[in-house]
Amino acid sequence: MTNTTTRHTAIDPTTAHVSPTFRIGGDLPVRRIGYGTMRLADGPGDPTGPEARIWTAPADRAGAIALLRGAVEQGVQLIDTADAYALGAGEELIADALHPYRDGLVIATKVGVVRPSPTEWVPLGHPAYLRQQTELSLRRLRTDRIDLLYLHRIDPAYPVAEQLGALRQLQEEGKVRHIGLSEVGVEEIREAQETAPVASVQNLYNLAARDHEEVVTYTAAQGIAFVPFFPVAMGAHATPGGPLDTIAKELGATAAQTALAWLLHRSPTVLPIPGTASAAHLAENIGALAVALGQEQFTRIEAATRA
Ligand SMILES: NC(=O)c1ccc[n+]([C@@H]2O[C@H](COP(=O)([O-])OP(=O)(O)OC[C@H]3O[C@@H](n4cnc5c(N)ncnc54)[C@H](OP(=O)(O)O)[C@@H]3O)[C@@H](O)[C@H]2O)c1
Repeated sequence: MTNTTTRHTAIDPTTAHVSPTFRIGGDLPVRRIGYGTMRLADGPGDPTGPEARIWTAPADRAGAIALLRGAVEQGVQLIDTADAYALGAGEELIADALHPYRDGLVIATKVGVVRPSPTEWVPLGHPAYLRQQTELSLRRLRTDRIDLLYLHRIDPAYPVAEQLGALRQLQEEGKVRHIGLSEVGVEEIREAQETAPVASVQNLYNLAARDHEEVVTYTAAQGIAFVPFFPVAMGAHATPGGPLDTIAKELGATAAQTALAWLLHRSPTVLPIPGTASAAHLAENIGALAVALGQEQFTRIEAATRA
C-alpha cells in the first residue's frame, strides 16, 4: 500500500500561534476563525442548544443569508457545513448566500452520515454512497470542486481504506481538493493517511472537553488543520471570578473570545469554527483573532483547566 502521508509547510511552534492565517493542505490560506453553519437550521419552537435537530432549512432564511454574507464581509474565509445539516438544505443555503464564491473563500462540507429521523445521525461509509453524496453536495453548492471534503464519521462497517479510497478517487477526478476526517483518534488518522492525504481533522475540542489533546499535537506536527467543533463551550471555568473570566477582564475581551484565543494559541494549525445564529456573537467570535493572549496568560489557563 502506498503511504500518501503529506507533511505540509513546516511550522515553528514557538511563534506560529500568533499567525492569523493557516494554509489548509499547504495551499488554501484562511484566517484562523471560520464560521460553522450547523446552527443555521430549524425554526421557532424547535429545540435549541445540544438538543437542536438541525433538520429543516432555517425559518428565517433572509436572516441566515445575511449572517453568512456578514461573516464573509468581516473576513471569514472558512465556511463549514455538511450534507447532513437539514438534509442538504444547509449547503443550498450557503450557495444561495455566497455563490458565486469570492476568491479565497473555502467551503468545507462532509459526507458519510445519514439522517433517517430528526434525532438520528448514523454513519454510512459505503464507498458508492460517499461518492453519490459528494455528487449531490457539488450540485447543492453549485461548484465543480469541493475545497475540503470530510468523511463525517468513519463507519466501522467498512474498511477505512475503502472509505478513504472513495474520497481519494473523487480527489483524483478533480471533484475534491482536500480530504478531512471527523471525530477520529491518532491511529485512525494514521490508517487513513495510508490511503489518502489528510488535510484537516475536525473533532470535539474546547476548554472543557480535552479528550483530543494527542490529536491536536499530532496534527500540529503533521501540518494538518485541527478544526475544533463546539469551540466556544467554556464549562465551569467561565463562571464569574473563574480563570477565564479573570483573564478575559485583563484582556478587555469576553470569555468566549478568550476561549477562542486559547484555542488559537494552543497550536498553530487550530482553526476554530464557532457556530452562531446571532450577528453579535458572530462579530464577537471573529474579534477573537485580535485578542492578544500572552504566553503567561495561556499557561495560567492551562494550569487551571487541565485535568
Ligand atoms: N464534525 C462534527 O461532527 C460536528 C459536530 C458539531 C458541530 N460541527 C461544526 O462545528 C460548528 C461549531 O459547532 P456549534 O455551532 O455546535 O458549537 P459552538 O460554536 O460551540 O456554539 C454552540 C452555541 O454557542 C453559542 N455561541 C456562539 N458564539 C457565542 C458567543 N460569542 N457567546 C456566547 N455564546 C455563543 C451559540 O448560540 P447563539 O446562536 O445564541 O450564538 C451556539 O448555540 C458547527 O456549526 C458545525 O459546522 C461539526
